[in-house]
Amino acid sequence: MSHTTTSENSGTRDGLMGGGHGHSPDPHDDHASPIRTPKQLITVIIASFVLPVVIIILLVNFVAFGGKEGAGSDGMSPEAVAKRLQPVGTVELRDVSSPAAMRTGEQVYQAQCAACHATGAANAPKLGDAAAWAPRVATGFASLLNSAMKGKGAMAPQAGGDATDYEIARAVVYLANQGGGKFAEPAAPAAAASAPK
Ligand code: HEC
Repeated sequence: MSHTTTSENSGTRDGLMGGGHGHSPDPHDDHASPIRTPKQLITVIIASFVLPVVIIILLVNFVAFGGKEGAGSDGMSPEAVAKRLQPVGTVELRDVSSPAAMRTGEQVYQAQCAACHATGAANAPKLGDAAAWAPRVATGFASLLNSAMKGKGAMAPQAGGDATDYEIARAVVYLANQGGGKFAEPAAPAAAASAPK
C-alpha cells in the first residue's frame, strides 16, 4: 500500500514537475504579440483605419491652405508674388541723360564704328592709321564730330546707330586719338554740344 502510495505520490510529483516544465519556459510567451485580448485587437484595427484618414485630412489641409501666411509675413503680397513670377530677363531703360549709363568711346566704336573703321571699308580711315587720320585730326574735333553726327561720304549720320550724341562724341575722340589726335574726353551731355574742343 505504502509502496503504491509512494509510487502514486512520486507519479503525481513527476506529473506536476512535468507540467511545470511544460508551462513555465513557454517560448511563445517571449515573442507574443502585444495584442492579447479581443479588446486590444479591436482597438488596433480601429486605429489602423482612423490614423491614415487623419493623416490624409491633415495633408489635404496642408496642401489646400498651405498658402496661408503667418501673421506679419508678406510672402503672399502682390509685390512679393510678382517678384517671384518675374521673368529672368528684364528690359533696362538707359537713362540717356546720365553719363554713368553711357558706353565709353571704345565700346561705342566696337559696337558701331568698327565695321568700317577697323577694316577701312568704303574708304573709311582705319583705326590707328595716323597717316589717314592726321589731316582729319587737323580739322579739329568740332569738324570731326560734325561729320560723325551728320554723316560724311559713305558714313551715315551717327553711324546709323542708336548711340547718344555724347557716345558718338566719345567714339570720335577714341577714333581720332588712336590715329594720333590729342582730343580730350568730351564733357558730359549737358555741356557736350557747347564745349567740343
Ligand atoms: C558705314 C561705314 C562707317 C561706319 C559704320 C562709321 N564710319 Fe566713320 N567714316 C566712314 C567713311 C567712309 C569715312 C570717310 C568719309 C569721307 O571722308 O568721305 C568716315 C570718316 C569718319 C571720321 C572723319 C570725319 C572727317 O570729318 O574727316 C570720323 C571722325 C568718323 N568717321 C567717326 C566715326 C564714328 C565715331 C563711327 C561710329 C559711331 C563711325 N565713324 C562709323 C565710314 C563709316
